[in-house]
Amino acid sequence: MANLIANIDLVEEVKVEENCAIRVSKETDAAGKKLYIESYGCQMNFSDSEIVTSILAGEGYTTTSSFENADLILLNTCSIREKAEHTIRNRLGHFNGVKKKRPEVTIGVLGCMAERLKSKLLEEEKMVDLVVGPDAYRDLPSLIKITEEGEKGINTFLSREETYADISPVRLNSNGVTAFISIMRGCDNMCSFCVVPFTRGRERSRDPQSIIREATELFENGYREVTLLGQNVDSYKWSEEEENNKARLERNGDSEIINFAALLELVANVDPNLRVRFSTSHPKDITDEVLYTMKKHENICNYIHLPAQSGNSRVLEMMNRTYDREWYVNRVDAIRNILGEDCGISSDMIAGFCTESEEEHRDTLSLMDYVQYDFSYMFVYSERPGTLAAKKYKDDTSPDVKKRRLQEIINKQQELSMIRNKRDVGKIFKVLIEGRSKKSVDQLQGRNSANKVVIFNDNGYEKGQYINAKITDCTSATLLGEVV
Ligand code: SAH
Ligand code: SF4
Ligand code: F3S
Repeated sequence: MANLIANIDLVEEVKVEENCAIRVSKETDAAGKKLYIESYGCQMNFSDSEIVTSILAGEGYTTTSSFENADLILLNTCSIREKAEHTIRNRLGHFNGVKKKRPEVTIGVLGCMAERLKSKLLEEEKMVDLVVGPDAYRDLPSLIKITEEGEKGINTFLSREETYADISPVRLNSNGVTAFISIMRGCDNMCSFCVVPFTRGRERSRDPQSIIREATELFENGYREVTLLGQNVDSYKWSEEEENNKARLERNGDSEIINFAALLELVANVDPNLRVRFSTSHPKDITDEVLYTMKKHENICNYIHLPAQSGNSRVLEMMNRTYDREWYVNRVDAIRNILGEDCGISSDMIAGFCTESEEEHRDTLSLMDYVQYDFSYMFVYSERPGTLAAKKYKDDTSPDVKKRRLQEIINKQQELSMIRNKRDVGKIFKVLIEGRSKKSVDQLQGRNSANKVVIFNDNGYEKGQYINAKITDCTSATLLGEVV
């Protein structure tokens, strides 16, 4: 089974795992039409590719890991930074060659770049047959039929309702232990740097019953961890009235509005052996209620991805993040007070946003020192067409300064990751085994509750099993342990 995770954008982005991996569909033996799907960008996109694969399975498509054999090649794309789009353009150039050799192959662009560029993409990339935005995947079968008649197929309609709640994703690249569940789509925040509200549309929450059903099915199929996904999970909200009397879900007797804390609790109650994670939390929305719900349930992991973006209040205001440094610090204090020092916290940081001064950049470094992040995803600012920042502000930090500031942020994070991991030496953690260590065949790896990778010797343990590991050593990226 192919599981290609290529490291692109090395200079711009350090943690490649979540934000800029490429994932490729796996090989299946079945006969019939072959789908090759390559996914870029965030976890939401990878999750969407599983929905697309499920929709196309209904049309007789099975996946392949080599595009040479494919009848249909799909690229699920990302627009978050210029470089992400650049990578995809290069890849499309490559598929141009495939199309020349085999004109019968259908090539489609899905996801955020499809949504951002719409029909322009068909004009610019002549070999592309299909352009389909994130809310239009149900239309794929009929769009593919159009291309079979020699026409181009396009649908970039953004929906206010679509959540694909009824579609069971076909798990791609799965380790059989951990899985992602989309609980909402879109984003109603207007961070001035960000293209997501334009490519993903309005925020909408998915019916909680369908979420619980998916979590239960995963557990029954041997999965032991689910991550609830959304651009801003803390604003999850589902109400019976809004949903026109869909089946009623009750929590503590009679609650009719399910907020994120309530949803977390419902998923945690699926089974004590099913771990629950979530991402991403917006600092303006994360409530103490969520933190207390985490504390109450042992199987809700003690880890929060809480992107700060900057440590300076003026820059945060220009970013339209709607919180300031003080508010952010208050949320971190609440996490430490309620969940303790061992709770993992990570961030996203942007270096060199419009008008950022040296002193303001140093505020980002000092915030990092204050919070003691376990890790961060770090980027240089990349202006995106159509965003508030592109319209209102000048992208006036030079590339060299951006790069240097990013490097300082990276260095700071490496220092902090090491400090945070060293604190763990001597401690015992419950670890969920995810599979073989990437570095050595004699070792296994898993994660502790705080989302840290723990590596230990394989004494015949199984994937999906929980073990207790005593941490004996560490690097800035991983913990080394022995089973106790
Ligand atoms: N919804 C999440 C973020 C989604 S995008 C949140 O609000 O935290 C993931 C990350 O990409 C962002 O947190 C931000 O750090 C980064 N990002 C988004 N737009 C960017 C841009 N124009 N330039 C550089 N980094 C950007
Ligand atoms: Fe983008 Fe802000 Fe929405 Fe995150 S919360 S997706 S950064 S607009
Ligand atoms: Fe990229 Fe779209 Fe995700 S822009 S980061 S794939 S929501």
